[in-house]
Amino acid sequence: MKITVLGTGYVGLSTGVCLSQIGHHVTCMDIMEQKINQLKQGISPIYEPGLEDLLTSNMADGRLNFTTSLSESLADAEIIIIAVGTPQGDDGSADLSYLVQAAKDISSYLTSQSIIVIKSTVPVGTNDYIGKLIEDTCGFKVKMVSNPEFLRQGSAIEDTLKADRIIIGSEDVDAARKIHEMYRPLNVPVLLTSTRSAEMIKYASNAFLATKISYINEIANLCEAVGADVTDVAKGMGKDKRIGEPFLSAGIGYGGSCFPKDVKALLHTAGVNGVKFPLLKETIAINEYQRELLVTKALKRFGGLKGKKIAMLGLAFKPETDDMREAPSIPIANLLTKYGAEVIAYDPIAKENARRIIGDSIKYAGSVEEAVYEADAVLIVTEWKEIKEIDVSEMIRKMKEPIIFDGRNCLAEEKIRNCTSVEYYPIGKPPIII
Ligand SMILES: NC(=O)c1ccc[n+]([C@@H]2O[C@H](COP(=O)([O-])OP(=O)(O)OC[C@H]3O[C@@H](n4cnc5c(N)ncnc54)[C@H](O)[C@@H]3O)[C@@H](O)[C@H]2O)c1
Repeated sequence: MKITVLGTGYVGLSTGVCLSQIGHHVTCMDIMEQKINQLKQGISPIYEPGLEDLLTSNMADGRLNFTTSLSESLADAEIIIIAVGTPQGDDGSADLSYLVQAAKDISSYLTSQSIIVIKSTVPVGTNDYIGKLIEDTCGFKVKMVSNPEFLRQGSAIEDTLKADRIIIGSEDVDAARKIHEMYRPLNVPVLLTSTRSAEMIKYASNAFLATKISYINEIANLCEAVGADVTDVAKGMGKDKRIGEPFLSAGIGYGGSCFPKDVKALLHTAGVNGVKFPLLKETIAINEYQRELLVTKALKRFGGLKGKKIAMLGLAFKPETDDMREAPSIPIANLLTKYGAEVIAYDPIAKENARRIIGDSIKYAGSVEEAVYEADAVLIVTEWKEIKEIDVSEMIRKMKEPIIFDGRNCLAEEKIRNCTSVEYYPIGKPPIII
């Protein structure tokens, strides 16, 4: 099939690359010239394991192209997938301006047979709204399909090629059948629904996972108060198939480009429709508290942070991505500097993206060793493999004080217990002080 993907971010690029991998002819279009120029040279503008290999091989096989030209990208397209950003608006609702612009841009190239697939995460009713907008501009109806995306950054390619499910929501049976056909080579379970149910499935899923994280974080805080160990508690809970093991890691809260904005957008939708949804309000409040927990703990331990040298290990919102959107490292760095600490941070991949957001109020190290040198304390913020595998005794030798606040519970306890002198503060379990 001939497919056009609008937007070459984490979702659009992964989708385009994977659809070409299963044999389709894909043209990816973006308004950012710099991104497209990089892509044309086979360079991925984002860090995503396995992406660049598939990108270059499918380009070489002639199934994958990149352009900034709408007319070029839409010539003969059977299916147009929209994967532009839907960031958080000022009032918590999803900002649909990129989507609306994209819909207006493509209007003059459409026919009544065009199939428009909205892959961006959009509030219930958006497919209807965009369909109407296009109809008003073109004078004819197009076929609208809601096809929300569930990939996780850091494993986007694997998640796309081996998805748990594909949701296809449409009132147009032929269009739904065609999209089903497009995905058939993936051999992934498909659920056909109405457009509105498909739109809701995406938000309901993300908000549920965010709530699961806030729930285990609240249990972690209670574990600390009563002397239990949240890792054991989560393991015990997760063995129950009704609960499941994933998303039960206590830590410093969820971040990234999806959960924070999607939970708020769902809450906004609830409000507009007269539904209070207090559970989501608590999910957000717990997450806000959790994001500041490492600083709260450091303040309690030191009494004040003025002049303390604090090393932050990890900046990206999670491992295996360079994405800094809504990363807990941002409020942590800002709070530490507000309390007068001297902060030096290390991240294997996200340093430059972090510098653009956090700025020069903190220093950026080129290695773990450089970051922890003479530090009064280490804060573990992102559980990169490199950070999990740190030689703790060696790291402590370089620090001024052997104090570690582990926001991801990612250092092996036996490594901590092998240290001759250490203060180790994990989340939701007793500290280890030797
Ligand atoms: N990132 C994720 O993990 C993830 C997972 C599932 C769903 N989603 C959803 O998918 C959507 C895209 O997310 P993302 O993280 O890929 O966004 P992104 O910000 O990384 O990429 C969006 C891209 O769209 C481009 N764009 C904007 N307007 C355009 C236009 N008119 N024509 C062509 N390109 C245009 C931008 O230049 C940018 O490259 C969002 O709705 C998001 O909520 C994201």
